Amino acid sequence: MEHERHALDREAVRRGREILRRAERVVVLTGAGVSADSGVPTFRGEEGLWKRHRPEELATPEAFARDPRLVWEWYAWRRELVAPCEPNAAHRALADWARRRDGVTLVTQNVDGLHGRAADVGQRTDAGTADRPGADGGTPRRAGADPIELHGSLFRVRCTACPGRYPHRDPVDTTSERSLPRCRACGALLRPDVVWFGEPLPSEALRRAFEAAGDAEACLVVGTSGVVFPAAGIATAAAASGATLIEVNPEATALSGLTEVALRARAAIAVPALLAP
Ligand code: OAD
Repeated sequence: MEHERHALDREAVRRGREILRRAERVVVLTGAGVSADSGVPTFRGEEGLWKRHRPEELATPEAFARDPRLVWEWYAWRRELVAPCEPNAAHRALADWARRRDGVTLVTQNVDGLHGRAADVGQRTDAGTADRPGADGGTPRRAGADPIELHGSLFRVRCTACPGRYPHRDPVDTTSERSLPRCRACGALLRPDVVWFGEPLPSEALRRAFEAAGDAEACLVVGTSGVVFPAAGIATAAAASGATLIEVNPEATALSGLTEVALRARAAIAVPALLAP
């Protein structure tokens, strides 16, 4: 039965906790699976987005140049899917853990913003006020809770002509090319601030992520198939520098061969068990 197949392996949890407790520096790499329990679709599973849609028609610079309205329609639809979703127990456990201890770098391939929202909620609870982080004796936010977003964000846009880049949560009118969002500085077409196939990843994010991978004694990999590079290279680089890998994923992945401890369970179950105080 499904729930038995994915029941939590207590011994693996114990070993994983021990590895994380001993490690001074940990790099965490997450993928779509960490948000699956929040209701966000993954890309390559049975119901995955790339089973029903062709990435080359929707997620490349060529597709946007050819038909910006179609590409915006796809991103507007994904925003609508994600907007009502809430961080789940895995996002919250990661944010709490990164706040409790030093030496955590959280790297995500996800564009849903759920790690950041989990970190924001935790901060408000600790600090009392959202606009005065760490005030009133609350716990100040540690940098580790803020994810490095390797693939950008669904809720930011950038200009196709000038360096303009903004948060953007407004509904997008995709009825025609003329109704698409325009840059408030120069008037050119705006695009989602996500990384498309064939594009480089944001260089500073990539540099920080690989630096953390090279320094880490442990690497926690959650909910990624590990087939998209350079992101998956965070885990392989960490392993190559001697980090011990822990994987949380109901299925074996391209990274499982490097893994010391595998938790074959859903993120919302396994991550809190690994990271609870
Ligand atoms: P994938 O869809 O390739 O993989 C999702 C992984 O999550 C699979 O290994 C699943 O077994 C696992 N999974 C499913 N449900 C889970 C759960 N409840 N808990 C834990 N794991 C679960 O997604 P990614 O590896 O994130 O890039 O894909 C990488 C990149 O490919 C994405 O960032 C996106 C995509 O094309 C861009 O758009 C640039």
